[in-house]
Amino acid sequence: MPDTVTPGRTPAAPTLDERALARALSGHHFIAGRFAPPASGRTFAVVNPATGEEIGRAAEGDAADVAAAVEAAAAAQKDWAKVPARKRGALVAECARVLADHVEELARLIALETGKALRTESRVEANVVADIFAFYGGLGSELKGETVPFHPDVLSFTVREPLGVVGAIIPWNVPMLLMALKVAPALVAGNAVVVKSAEEAPLAVLRVCELLNRVLPPGLFNILSGYGPECGGPLVEHPKVRKVTFTGSVEVGRIVAETCGRKIIPVTLELGGKSPMIVFDDCELEKAVAGAITSMRFTRQGQSCTAASRIYVHERIFDAFADALAAKVDAMVMGDPLDERTDIGTIISPAQFEKVRGYIEEGKATPGATARVCSRLPDDPALRKGLFIQPHIFTGLTRESRLVREEIFGPVTCLFPFRDWEAVLAEANASDYGLSASVWTNNLRVGLRMAHALEAGIVQINQNLVVQANISYGGVKSSGLGKEASLEAMLEHFMHKKTIMVNMG
Ligand code: NAI
Ligand code: MG
Repeated sequence: MPDTVTPGRTPAAPTLDERALARALSGHHFIAGRFAPPASGRTFAVVNPATGEEIGRAAEGDAADVAAAVEAAAAAQKDWAKVPARKRGALVAECARVLADHVEELARLIALETGKALRTESRVEANVVADIFAFYGGLGSELKGETVPFHPDVLSFTVREPLGVVGAIIPWNVPMLLMALKVAPALVAGNAVVVKSAEEAPLAVLRVCELLNRVLPPGLFNILSGYGPECGGPLVEHPKVRKVTFTGSVEVGRIVAETCGRKIIPVTLELGGKSPMIVFDDCELEKAVAGAITSMRFTRQGQSCTAASRIYVHERIFDAFADALAAKVDAMVMGDPLDERTDIGTIISPAQFEKVRGYIEEGKATPGATARVCSRLPDDPALRKGLFIQPHIFTGLTRESRLVREEIFGPVTCLFPFRDWEAVLAEANASDYGLSASVWTNNLRVGLRMAHALEAGIVQINQNLVVQANISYGGVKSSGLGKEASLEAMLEHFMHKKTIMVNMG
């Protein structure tokens, strides 16, 4: 493809030359309305996981860059908070329109950077990002308080106020979408944001930030790239950061929460999961099998915190379900993420690749366990260094196995037969995690009974959709704190409520 973009200068119009765009975005943060080189002058490689080639460089942020971004955000936030809420919403809705114009560009860039297939994942993500901005853009008038009937002579009411500067730390699996869940509500609520992107996926989110800065006042939305402890750490620590929202591992979530605890500031945590899918024998088998593929996020190589990595199937339909699922996954195409025919792309990084391979080896070596290995590795020589892992469907593992207890974040799921609902409920809840769950049955009584008893932030019956605007999303137990994606998320997690009392007596 010809070079249509000059390094260091990003195009004004949407571009489909993702490689040139990656180079043009290289080596910068975005601070105070402009591209900014890292204070240290250091950068690190951004690698296409389908080929192993370097596609660009990311600025290596540190405490100096954090200070510049937070100061810019704090200055911009003062004026932003005075803009009428509905007008703030209108600007965020305008952001949605800019994003909608760039869906194809962003989809190609995120596919190049993360190895997620264009048709099944990357384009979907880019569309949802625009939708989230559109959703929150319409909620400017909803930042309401309440009146409280305290006493006939006293008018007692509450008003909602922004928190100030929000620090947002995001991972690499759906980086644009997870960033949108934080940035859009934070802005409508009257805050400014500093995002720290994930090491593995810094470019598409940088482009999003640049595009939205064409609409937003400078300094409201800043983004830094860099390593976790060196750049994310100082962001959480910064005294002017008054709220942190984090998506990532439980391990880092704890570190972030400890710092926020010390600073006494609110924190939202979206951490991992080990989400159960429970399939009763009165379900519609074909729908449940198709649902298992969506639930397990096989098209995202299972790199999802809500992946249905434990599937419990009634013993009467267990064999039929396992065979049908394996056949359907086997028919999925692994290949070049940018090829429209591809269903399944690559794992994000060599570290995740080794981690997932480790679980698979352990599973295969477990006495009594069997793996159905599905689909085929691509034979294109250009992809020979690609981080492809075939989907694995395990049977015969027990609750004690690491594969059943720990989040794998890869294309690996475990099937278990069950007989009665009390037993399967106990198994499903025997996890440190509690993010999402799904139940497949035509018996509403059983479905609702399960939905009430499952320890999860969200339970879906006869479907398992990914994150949707307006549907509150967030886990219990080690899966996290707080909600995202809804009106409640904006009101409860990006604002505080002030009480005002007037004695009229
Ligand atoms: P991670 O939790 O290390 O990284 C997430 C973000 O936190 C990145 O931006 C990273 O730079 C930042 N970070 C790391 N250390 C930090 C620190 N000390 N202070 C502030 N920020 C810090 O996740 P990683 O290493 O990419 O993946 C490891 C595992 O975590 C995965 O295998 C998966 O199980 C889980 N994970 C869960 C995600 C989710 O959606 N809930 C997303 C990504 C990973
Ligand atoms: Mg890590």
